[in-house]
Formats: sequence, structure tokens, C-alpha cells
Amino acid sequence: MASLSPSCFRQSTSHFFRCIAVRATSQVSQGSMPFNHAGMINLAVTPVLNGKGIDMKTPVPGPETKKLMDKLNVQGGMGGAVTLFADYSASSGCYMVDADGNRILDMFSQIASLPLGYNHPALDEVAKSPLMRTLAHSRCALGLMPPKELPQLLEDTFLKIAPKGMTRVQTMLCGSSANENVFKAAFFRFRAKQREQLGLGPTDFTSEELESCMNNQMPGCANDLSIMSFSGGFHGRTLGALTCTHSKTVHKIDVPAFDWPTAPFPKLQYPLEDHLEQNAAEERSCLQVARQLFQGRQEEGRPIAGMIIEPILSEGGDLHASARFFESLQHMCKDFGAAFIVDEVQTGVCSSGQMWSHEAWGLEESPDFVCFSKKALLGGYYYKDEFQPPQGYRIFNTWMGDATKLLLFRAVLETVEKEGLQVVVREVGQKLTTILHEAASAHPEYVRNIRGQGTIIAFDCASPEHRDSLASLLRNTGVLVGTNGTQSIRFRPSLNFTLEHVTEFQVVFQDSLKQISFGASAK
Ligand SMILES: Cc1ncc(COP(=O)(O)O)c(C=O)c1O
Repeated sequence: MASLSPSCFRQSTSHFFRCIAVRATSQVSQGSMPFNHAGMINLAVTPVLNGKGIDMKTPVPGPETKKLMDKLNVQGGMGGAVTLFADYSASSGCYMVDADGNRILDMFSQIASLPLGYNHPALDEVAKSPLMRTLAHSRCALGLMPPKELPQLLEDTFLKIAPKGMTRVQTMLCGSSANENVFKAAFFRFRAKQREQLGLGPTDFTSEELESCMNNQMPGCANDLSIMSFSGGFHGRTLGALTCTHSKTVHKIDVPAFDWPTAPFPKLQYPLEDHLEQNAAEERSCLQVARQLFQGRQEEGRPIAGMIIEPILSEGGDLHASARFFESLQHMCKDFGAAFIVDEVQTGVCSSGQMWSHEAWGLEESPDFVCFSKKALLGGYYYKDEFQPPQGYRIFNTWMGDATKLLLFRAVLETVEKEGLQVVVREVGQKLTTILHEAASAHPEYVRNIRGQGTIIAFDCASPEHRDSLASLLRNTGVLVGTNGTQSIRFRPSLNFTLEHVTEFQVVFQDSLKQISFGASAK
């Protein structure tokens, strides 16, 4: 039996890696406590998942990754934010292997987008199927010449898990393209209703409208209409979606934006049970501003056609609000004839513990649109019948999605059902939350304001610097987490992240907190 002594914490980074590597390769029983009586990490009881657990050989990024980065940077850099290169063939389950051979427990899962981790056998099986091969070779324009299998595939996938009362679905390419097209569909419906009030059909366009739209002018272009969004929200980086994004300046600076209204999103205080009054007052005040924005624009003759909101404002720092808050927003949209758009790109497909996070609000009537992407493997949205576009080509692009992803998503849903992963997500979420609460008492500088639903969990650190140093230590010791907001760490594991993975995380997490707190107090 070995243990990490305080002197190990003071050792050089390379010694620390050796400590971790020893732990990752030792075969142990999983029943006993990971700490010995002295409170030190007990390496001999750390779970190693049959030799497939965390195995760190170098810091991240390691030398091989750095070489690849140099090469990629000359080629354009792929967005300029690459942190590591992965060896996806060697990765499996919830472990990503990087280009330096480090096996890392992945709790970020490709920005929340891998439903079943890496190289899942069920998806591998689909990948070998003849239909998959054909659809991959012959990528189809789904809006013009879809494969004959498409209606059945939609029935077996998105329609099977449609939010209550939603019977229509449109696939797209990514989250941003889903949102952009939802905005258009909301505007079409709004203008059609205006025409109805004049006794006109939805496509009875005047010649002035047809001429002016070609010059980006009103009345053909509905430049007076808008979509309301919320401070801290994130809906993508294409132009319309970016107007509704308010999470970080780096996304928005230098880009023209539409003159669309932004309402404040509540800033809740934690723990919730200790701040009931303040939080309720905060939500009321945000609702009041949203209503004033609707009212003001209506009086100015430039009504708001839709409102977009995430159930958990993810990129903005995992900001939550009560079910009542969201329900009130839906009522407000109804009052002003605006579409209520719920962006479930990051929260959808089981990770909240519900298939769709907004199901936890218990709405009497579904939202008007629910957008998805990430764990759904391709972008798209559900919509109510009345938002069916009045003509072909009004919602359109070349691919309109990707049929191969529908084949894979069918296998994802079958696996979720067969393996009871929705229940696993709930159990894992509870266990992770318990671990965080324990850590918050011992290390409040690094763990505070814990919040979550299912495995969509986040906590704050005392400052951005505290957050960055903890996230980087975790990565170097074999746990990949996400960061968001100004000083938050978020978990976004795959749906097959189990309690065994949690135990492995717990050891590294507690170990890292001790090391980092010890380092801070020694300064
Ligand atoms: C809530 C939400 N909406 C939209 C998007 C944009 O999706 P994509 O990056 O696929 O365009 C994201 C991406 O993180 C998101 O989290």
C-alpha cells in the first residue's frame, strides 16, 4: 500500500506524474475508502477500471501535441483555441487518449456533444452497416432528394423522443444553424399573422415587399421585428445567433449585430434554500424588465417576434432559474404573440436527467420551438404545426442535416434505453454533487456555488485565476473538465459516465484540491 505524502505534493511536476501513473496502473479492490487514516491518498484502493483508467505520461499539452500545434498553426490554427490533439482510435468509453499517449478521464466530452463516449460498440456496429457506408459516400441533399429511409429514421429518432405536443422536426447542421432557422420560422409566422389581420394569405406579398426585400429594406425585409435574448445566454456564432449571444466579448467584438433586445437573466445566490426571498425578488425584477421590453417595442410599432432562452445558460456559466421563471416567460410570449424558443443544444438528450431539460418545468403546453444539436449528433429543431413554413425553400440549405447521423443517433437512443442511462445520469449527478459539497467545505476558494441538473453540473472558484489553475491541474492529472462563465468549472460527461468513473474522478479531484490549496498556503 502506498500513499501520496505531502512531500509528493511539493515535488516537481514530473515526480507528480509518476505518482499518478503508479496509481493508474495498480490493480485494486474498489470496496474500501480511497483515503487512509492520515487523510492521504491511498493509491492501493484507487479504482483503475481494469487497467483502462487514467494514465498520464506527460503534462498536457505534451511534446507531441506541441509539435502538431506548431504545424497546425501554420496551416491556420483551426480557430486558434486548440488545447490538445487526440488519438481518437486509441480513445474508448469515457477516456480520451491524447497524441502523447495520456489517457484522460473526459468529463467535457467534446463540448458536451458525445452521447456515449469514444468508439462505443453499438455505434461501431452501425458504422459497419451497408446503409451507413452508402449514406457516407453519397451525402444527400435532404431537402431535395432524401433517402427513402428518411421518414422512418425520423420516426425512430427525433419523433420518438419529441417533447410533449411537438410533432414536427427539422434537422440542420449544427446548433447555430438550428437557431438561425428557428428565428426565420418565427418571423415567417409573425408576418403571416400580420397579413391574416389584413385579410391576406400568408404568401400574399405586395410588389413593394418583393422589390424592397432584394435591397434589404422594409417592408419586404421585416427589419422592425426582433428576437429577445438574455444576458449571459449563448446561441451560436453565426450572425443572427450571435446577436442573441451574450456570454463573452470575444465572440461579439467587431461583428455587426441586429438591434434586438436583451433582457437580464437572474443571478441566483447559493445555496438556494438560504436565499429564497432574494432569488424570488431577482427573478421578478428580470421578468418585469422583459415585459417592459415587449411593451416598449410594441408601442414603438416594432414588435418582438420571439424569445430564445437556454434552460441552463451554459456558456455563460451554468446560470439557472426556477421553473416558475421560465413558465412566466412562456406566458409573456403568449401575451405578446411571440414564439417561445427553448435552446436545448447543450442541455438536451438526457444529460439533465430528463430527455429534454425543459421537461422539468412542467409546462402545460410545450414551447413553440425546441432546438437541439451536440448529443443529438446533428442540429435541428422541433416546432409546432402553426410554424410550418408557408412555402418550400423558405427553410433550406444544401444538406439540411446528415442522414449518417440519424443512423448513429438511432443506436444512441437504443443504447440509452437498453442500458438505463437516464437513471445512471441521475445517480451520477447526485454523487458528483455530494463530492462537490464535501469539497466546498474543505476548499471554499476552489469550490462554491454548486449547481446542477443531472450531470450538467458546475461550481465557481473564488476568481478566474483560481478556476484556471484548478482546471489545468486536473487536466495534467488526468481529468478533463470544461470551464465557463468568468470563474466556473462545468462537468459535461457522456451519458455512460458511471459511478466507477465518479470514484476515479473523486480521487483525482480531492488530490488536486489538496495539492493546489497546499501550494497556495505555502506561497
Ligand atoms: C445553448 C447553445 N446553443 C447554440 C450553440 C451553438 O452550437 P454550434 O456550436 O453547434 O453552432 C451552443 C454551442 O455551444 C450552445 O451551447
